Amino acid sequence: MKIRYLSCLLIPAACATVSGPLADFEPVEATTVLDAPAARTAGADAGRIEHGRYLVGLLGCESCHTDGALLGTPRMDRQLAGSDVGIAFSNPLQQRRPGIVYPANLTPDMKTGIGAWSEREIITAIRTGVGRDGRRHLPVMPWPGYQKLSDADAAAIAAYLRALPPVQHAVPENVRPGERARAPYVHFGVYQSRR
Ligand code: HEC
Repeated sequence: MKIRYLSCLLIPAACATVSGPLADFEPVEATTVLDAPAARTAGADAGRIEHGRYLVGLLGCESCHTDGALLGTPRMDRQLAGSDVGIAFSNPLQQRRPGIVYPANLTPDMKTGIGAWSEREIITAIRTGVGRDGRRHLPVMPWPGYQKLSDADAAAIAAYLRALPPVQHAVPENVRPGERARAPYVHFGVYQSRR
């Protein structure tokens, strides 16, 4: 008690008591959940890659592309390596079997990630939602919000993704509306209680 009293005098924040609805919550370490992972930075590209890491953290790519993140429990050993939990892109309240996409593995693994993609292809996917195979629109991927990234920023993001340690992890196949989903999914939507 005495020690606590002393620390109150020295560091007032140390003795702040929380009351009300937050009383039962412990503060979480803010750097653990959605921090972009460190890349293998070397040579002259280090500054560009570090800028890419900063942007990826800022733009929240992790919140979808890291397994578990959609459920609030990100797998830190698989950061940006794709999600086994999908996201419905058609409305499950109207369709019993909605279409579902699984956020892709963005690490440079050749088979399961984007290791075979060129920088240009990565930039095009981020800014226009057109995948490598020329498929229009990556559903759910929030590319309209990334359309105005400058060339330098988009290139920094691509450079950062290409410098990540490759993680071998195949995400489940996308599901077309009407098909049965074999892996779990979430749905972003607006809900209203009846009463
Ligand atoms: C709201 C969730 C969400 C966020 C946030 C998000 N993405 Fe995606 N992204 C997806 C989904 C879902 C797909 C797969 C779409 C599909 O398969 O049609 C995808 C696909 C991609 C692809 C294509 C990869 C491939 O193999 O097809 C790239 C590249 C990509 N995202 C990069 C990013 C980057 C970089 C950011 C952050 C700037 C980001 N994404 C943020 C959901 C998201």
